[in-house]
Amino acid sequence: MQPKQVRIVEVGPRDGLQNEVAVSLQAKVNLVDQLSQAGLHYIETGAFVSPKWVPQMAESAAVFDQIKRSTGITYAALTPNLKGYEAAMVAKADEVAIFGAASEAFTQKNINCSIAESLERFAPVVQQAKADGIRVRGYVSCVVGCPYQGDVAPSEVARVAKALLDMGCYEISLGDTIGVGTANSVNAMLDAVMAVIPTEQLAVHFHDTYGQALTNIYVALQRGIAVVDSAVAGLGGCPYAAGASGNVATEDVVYLLNGLGIQHGVDLNALAKTGWQICAELGKPVSSKVGLALQANCLK
Ligand code: HMG
Ligand code: MG
Repeated sequence: MQPKQVRIVEVGPRDGLQNEVAVSLQAKVNLVDQLSQAGLHYIETGAFVSPKWVPQMAESAAVFDQIKRSTGITYAALTPNLKGYEAAMVAKADEVAIFGAASEAFTQKNINCSIAESLERFAPVVQQAKADGIRVRGYVSCVVGCPYQGDVAPSEVARVAKALLDMGCYEISLGDTIGVGTANSVNAMLDAVMAVIPTEQLAVHFHDTYGQALTNIYVALQRGIAVVDSAVAGLGGCPYAAGASGNVATEDVVYLLNGLGIQHGVDLNALAKTGWQICAELGKPVSSKVGLALQANCLK
């Protein structure tokens, strides 16, 4: 049954900007502040990863330092290992996320280790976070397809997701990293995952390469999943998944939720305006259909 309320996890400042041309520190800070003003309550603000691997995230500590924090908003960070976790704690991230994948080849390209090794690296992060009272979110990438291996077995997604849950993650975000999922493949993947993970601990994270993200989100909503990741203006991609387009646009998700009568707390006009502003900074066109439809409101 579809949820009455959805928590949107805004990943634009991280998943979005990690795969765009570099923007100024001020533009990154403005983006996070505008998103919080637009009513987003969970903002993935940066990543504490190797600056050699993802230079766009190198200033994450400064972003955390300069944003205007509002109460009730979670400012989260991606942390692949203890080094990243410690940096995130110095930056006062409210929550962290570890990120695994259901594909061996993608795991090697993305974080330079096997799936088994990645789980070994994540364990001390979760242990330390637990000791510090910090919640940890777990990502599983390549849940329906891998840019290097092709199809991914739903059983493998369920295995990695369960390992992250058992480790102590409070929520597992299922990432269609390259945006190849369809209603059928997403349903098959959810069948396997929902057999081992409670619905209330699941989130979905769709990239929109083939234009199926909203359909796939609708599928997940109808199965009761109530957490949806998205990026304002459909920013981003993944540096280790060539050809993957950006995340589903938050504006489009909000419009979908409005149509379904599902609460989310976001001011759509303020959000669309934020999308236009960051696209102007990036020098790229707005890709959100809803953002384009609201252009007249945004340029006032
Ligand atoms: P490695 O080279 O195997 O690590 O990289 P290492 O431990 O051997 O260290 C190598 C160097 O990196 C050393 O520096 C370390 O200090 C440094 P050097 O001595 O060469 O100067 N280092 C770090 N620096 C800053 N922060 C850290 C850190 N750790 C080590 N935390 C590593 C392993 C994981 C670090 C690397 O592969 C990496 O940073 N990868 C980044 C991957 C990434 O950010 N990908 C994008 C995010 S995932 C995604 O987008 C998918 C998602 O959206 C869901 C979906 O769509 O599916 C979440
Ligand atoms: Mg992603």
